[in-house]
Amino acid sequence: MEQQREQWSSKIGFILAAAGSAIGLGNIWKFPYIAGENGGAAFIFIYLICIAIIGLPVLIGEILIGRTTQLNPVGAFKKLSGSSFWSAIGGMGVIAGFAILSFYGVVAGWSMGYFVESVRGSFFDYTEVSGVGEHFNSLTANVFWGIGFLALFMFTTMIIVYAGVQKGIERGSKILMPVLFIILLILMFIGISLEGSSKGLSFLFEPDWGNVTGHSVLVALGHAFFTLSLGMGAMMTYGSYMSKKDNVPVAALQIVFLDTIIAIIAGVCIFTVVFATNQDPAAGPGLIFQTLPIVFTQMPGGYLFSILFFLLLTIAALTSAISLLEVVVAYFVDERGWNRHRAVIVFGSIIFLLGVPCALSYNVMSDVKLFGLNFFDLIDFIASNILLPLGGLFIAVFVGWVWGFDKVVVTLKEGAEKLFEKHAWLMPTWKIFLKYFAPILIFIVFLSSIGLLG
Ligand code: TRP
Repeated sequence: MEQQREQWSSKIGFILAAAGSAIGLGNIWKFPYIAGENGGAAFIFIYLICIAIIGLPVLIGEILIGRTTQLNPVGAFKKLSGSSFWSAIGGMGVIAGFAILSFYGVVAGWSMGYFVESVRGSFFDYTEVSGVGEHFNSLTANVFWGIGFLALFMFTTMIIVYAGVQKGIERGSKILMPVLFIILLILMFIGISLEGSSKGLSFLFEPDWGNVTGHSVLVALGHAFFTLSLGMGAMMTYGSYMSKKDNVPVAALQIVFLDTIIAIIAGVCIFTVVFATNQDPAAGPGLIFQTLPIVFTQMPGGYLFSILFFLLLTIAALTSAISLLEVVVAYFVDERGWNRHRAVIVFGSIIFLLGVPCALSYNVMSDVKLFGLNFFDLIDFIASNILLPLGGLFIAVFVGWVWGFDKVVVTLKEGAEKLFEKHAWLMPTWKIFLKYFAPILIFIVFLSSIGLLG
């Protein structure tokens, strides 16, 4: 019996789910510290340009492929091109889904574990960043802690995806995303109200062009891409549950807007508290797990702040993880005739098993190295630096050059007739960005991220 493919029940359901995918550890953990390291406001300005000239055009293309074909990435490329080369590009996305979720789940598990630590008040045992750093090392050195929270996180992700597109992903996003916004706003107000917070605000909003280098531009480009969940068919898969009546460019713009505003507010939350307590803003990747907990012990209301903060981080990671698992599930459901429940249980478990060596990279397997990288870093490198940029490059090339631009124009206008009538410049502009700017710029990012450029 052929089952009817599910669709979002509402426009806002799609927007929140897709924004949920985009808003993740990238926004709350990575964006603030790379903005901090690369000149604050000056970097944000460059980042916004990157979002506009490659992020948005590629996002529109990715959603459009999904909506047009109503299929997973492999099926979508097969249907539009009939070629096995392009199906393989879709397949690369499915593999990237496995890979990204296996290490993303580990960090998401830490966030969950840190939520528990916050509730227990563990950080109040320390007065020095080094103490919290050791606390972090001893937690991650504990095999059961890392794997336990990875399992719990994966299990939560699987429950939501198991329940389906409308009853699981859409309903989950409609609850989780507003909670995320509210927590973030509360944290922002607490942060701004602290004495000395204005130093944090000027750090974030006063451009310091002196710290911007060619490398900063590459970082901004690469991040613009990762933060919008582009390049592996996540947005394509979510787009495949969209109706032809929905407006793709407007939806894409809303997703980009939400993703960007959340990243900036997260920056405000973090740097106001970091500066108010005189911590080092350039602490880099350790900022969240090693510096912030000390900050919490030194600020008024820190106990509550820390609980809310790690809840926020967990929710953000969860709505992203859902989209990663859904890509894998959609492929097995559409192309291999699996039922959703079985696909979720089997592939959720396989991804968990792949996550285990990632978690073990912080303890018993820390000496197991390939190309000088431990398992965690190796999977991260392959996915983020190779599969995603290549995937994004091919998506831009496909929409711009292979699909047939006449057909692209017709399908993009569906649901957006008035928009393109009113703003005649939009279509030609999008075309130029997608055909020329995006592929060239993504290629440059690719070369740089595999180490061939600056
Ligand atoms: N965008 C997410 C973040 O900012 C990460 C993510 C989720 C992702 N799904 C993805 C990245 C798919 C690339 C592809 O944390």
